Amino acid sequence: MSVEAIEDLDGLRTFLGPARSKGRVIGLVPTMGALHGGHGALIERARADCDRVIVSIYVNPTQFGTGEDLARYPRRLEDDLAFCEFRGVDAVFAPTDAVMYPDALHTWVEPGVEAQGLCGESRPGHFRAVATIVLKLIHAVGPSRAYFGEKDLQQLAVVRRMVADFNVPVEIVECPTHREPDGLAASSRNGYLDSGEREAARVLYRALRAARQRIADGGRDPNEALGAARAVIASEPMARIDYIEVVGPEDMQPVPRIQGTVRVAGAVWIGGTRLIDNVRCEAPREAQPT
Ligand code: PAJ
Repeated sequence: MSVEAIEDLDGLRTFLGPARSKGRVIGLVPTMGALHGGHGALIERARADCDRVIVSIYVNPTQFGTGEDLARYPRRLEDDLAFCEFRGVDAVFAPTDAVMYPDALHTWVEPGVEAQGLCGESRPGHFRAVATIVLKLIHAVGPSRAYFGEKDLQQLAVVRRMVADFNVPVEIVECPTHREPDGLAASSRNGYLDSGEREAARVLYRALRAARQRIADGGRDPNEALGAARAVIASEPMARIDYIEVVGPEDMQPVPRIQGTVRVAGAVWIGGTRLIDNVRCEAPREAQPT
C-alpha cells in the first residue's frame, strides 16, 4: 500500500477519523523533510510503538532567522514519500504555508529558560517558532505520542516543557542520536558540506567525546572539560566554534560544577554550515569521606 500524502487539515481529519474512533494509538514524527537515517530511527521507533504513524514534513519558515538557510533548505518531497513508504509510514502530512499560516499569527508559545543560551543565543526567536509550530502540528494530528531526536537537545527540552506547562495530552518520546559511521550526527544540513568540509565536520563529535572523557575521568570543573573540547576544535582550521557548554539535562543552563548527569552541547561552523551535536555525560560518584 502506498503512503498517503495529505496537504490540509480536513484531509488529515478524514484519514485519521476511523483510527481515532477505534481507539488506535497514533504516533507523530514531526520533520522538515530531506529525510535521513536520524528521521528513519524516529519512524522505526514510532512504527514499533503505534498503530498509525504520521510523518509531518514542513519547512517552517518562522523558525529561520534572517540570513539563515530557509531558501536553500533541501526540499525533496518525492524522495521523502518513497522513504516513508519503505518504512511503513501510514500518511505524510505535508502542508503548504497557507495551511499552517492562513493568517499572520497573533498568538505564540513563549518558551522559558530552556530556550535561553546555546542555540537560543545565536538564533533569537527560533524556539518560540519551533514550540508554536510543534503545538500546531500536535493539534492538527492529535497523536498519543510524538517522537523527537536527542540530537536537537534544546528543542526537545523546550517541547517537553511546553507539553507539561500546557497539559498537552501527548507523550514525548526521545530517540538517541543517529550517527554516520565516522560519528558525525546525521543532519539534513550535512548535504551542504563539500568533501573537505565533510571531513572537517567530524571534529565536533571528537571534541564532545574529549569533554566526556574528562568528565568520566572525574573532572568536576566544566571549564576543564570545555578546554579539552575547544583544543580539539582548534586543531581543525575549517571549524569555528559558535558555542560549547556543559548544561543541566533539563533546563539547558550551564552548570557551575559537574555532578550527576550533564550534557555537553556544541555548535560549530564549518564553512557556511552550522552543525550542532551533544553528548550525555555521567560524572563518577564522588568518594564518600570515611
Ligand atoms: P528536523 O531537523 O527535520 O528534525 C526532525 C526530527 O528528527 C527532530 O526531532 C530531530 O531531533 C530528529 N533528528 C534529526 N537528526 C537526527 C539524528 N541524527 N538522530 C536522531 N534524531 C534526529 O527538528 C526539526 O526538523 C524541526 O525543528 C521541527 C521539530 C520539525 C519543527 O519544525
